[in-house]
Amino acid sequence: MTEPSRAKQIEATLIPGDGIGPEIVEGVRSVLETLGSPFLWVERAAGMAAIATYGDPLPEETLASIRRTKLALKGPLTTPVGEGFRSVNVRLREEFELYANVRPVRSLVPGQRYDNIDLVLIRENLEGLYVGFEHYVPIGDDPHAVAIASGINTRAGARRILRFAFDYALRYGRRKVTVVHKANVLKALSGVFLTTGLEIAKEYAGRIEVDQRIVDACAMQLVINPWQFDVIVTTNLFGDILSDEMAGLVGGLGLAPGANIGERAAIFEAVHGSAPDIAGRGIANPISLLLAAALMLEHVGQEQLADRLRAALHATIQQDHLTTPDLGGSASTRQVIAALVRRLKTTA
Ligand code: NAI
Ligand code: MG
Repeated sequence: MTEPSRAKQIEATLIPGDGIGPEIVEGVRSVLETLGSPFLWVERAAGMAAIATYGDPLPEETLASIRRTKLALKGPLTTPVGEGFRSVNVRLREEFELYANVRPVRSLVPGQRYDNIDLVLIRENLEGLYVGFEHYVPIGDDPHAVAIASGINTRAGARRILRFAFDYALRYGRRKVTVVHKANVLKALSGVFLTTGLEIAKEYAGRIEVDQRIVDACAMQLVINPWQFDVIVTTNLFGDILSDEMAGLVGGLGLAPGANIGERAAIFEAVHGSAPDIAGRGIANPISLLLAAALMLEHVGQEQLADRLRAALHATIQQDHLTTPDLGGSASTRQVIAALVRRLKTTA
C-alpha cells in the first residue's frame, strides 16, 4: 500500500499587505493548509507595512523573494498619496514584465444581477494609455490649458497578449475569444491590436472561434446578453473598465480575483483594495483572495485542488448561507473561513 502522495511543495511569496490584507491573508492561508495546497509560503512585506520598517513600500528583500519563487499571493496595498512613492502595483508589473492581467468572472452567489455567468477578461497590462506619456501645453496664464496623452501599442506586445488569450482558451476548454477595440476611431493605436488579433486568430482556426467588438458596443452587450461572450481580450484601459463592469454582473469587488502573469513571475491578488473603512473590524470578505488562490493553484497545474476550493466556497454560500455584510450577510471573516475549513475537512 502506498500513501496518496501529497503534491510536491512549491515555494511562493506571501504578502499580507495593508488594511484588510492581513485579516484575509491569514484566513486564506488556513484554508489552503486544510486543502493540502503545495505552497510553501515565504512571507515578505510590501505597502505601508513595509514603509515603517524599510522606508520603501516595495523593499528589495520582497523583490528578491519574488525573483526567486516567481510566484506570489498578494494582499491589497494602500497607495500612499502625495508622498513621492510610485504605485507598488505598477512597479511590480514593470519589474516582472507582468503583461497579462487575467480576470475571471463567475456566478457564485445566487440572486445577483445575472446568473450562470462564466467569463474571462484578459487585459494587456503594460502598454496603451497606461505608459503615462502625458504633458500640458500652457496658453496665456493657464499652465494646463491643453492636456495631451500618448498611448503606445506595439505589434509585439499585441501578439504576446493575443497569443496568451488564445492559448488560455485552449488550455481551459473555452470556445471563443472576442477581440475588443476601438479601431474605427483610433485607427493606428487600436487598429494594430485588431489586425494583430485577426492574424493570430488564424493560427487557432478550427480550434477557437474568434469574434471582434467595438468597446462601446461590447459594454452594452455585456449588460443585454453577457452569456454570448466567453474570453474577452483587450488593451489596457478598455480592460480596466470592462473588468469592473463584468465584476458588477456577478456581485462586485468581493468576488473578483485577478492574476498578473509575465515571463519572469506570476502574481495573484484580489481586484479590490485595502478597504481602510472596514479594516480591523473582522468583516472583510475573503472570497476574492480565495478565488485568486484558486487561480494560483490552476497556474501550477493543481486544477483539482482549485475545483475543490471553489466547490467548498459554493457550499458555504449556498448551503451554510454564510456571507459577509458586503454580500448582504452577517457573518464575520473568521466564520466564513471556519465554515470553509469544515466543508473541506468533510469532503477530504
Ligand atoms: P477598496 O477596494 O479598498 O474599497 C472600496 C469599497 O469596497 C469600500 O467600501 C470597501 O469597504 C469595500 N471592499 C473592498 N474590498 C472588500 C472586501 N474584501 N470585503 C468587504 N468590502 C470590501 O478601494 P478604495 O477604497 O478606493 O482603495 C483603498 C486603498 O486600496 C487605496 O490606497 C488604493 O490605492 C488601494 N488599492 C489597492 C489595490 C491593490 O493593491 N491591488 C487595488 C485597488 C485599490
Ligand atoms: Mg481598475
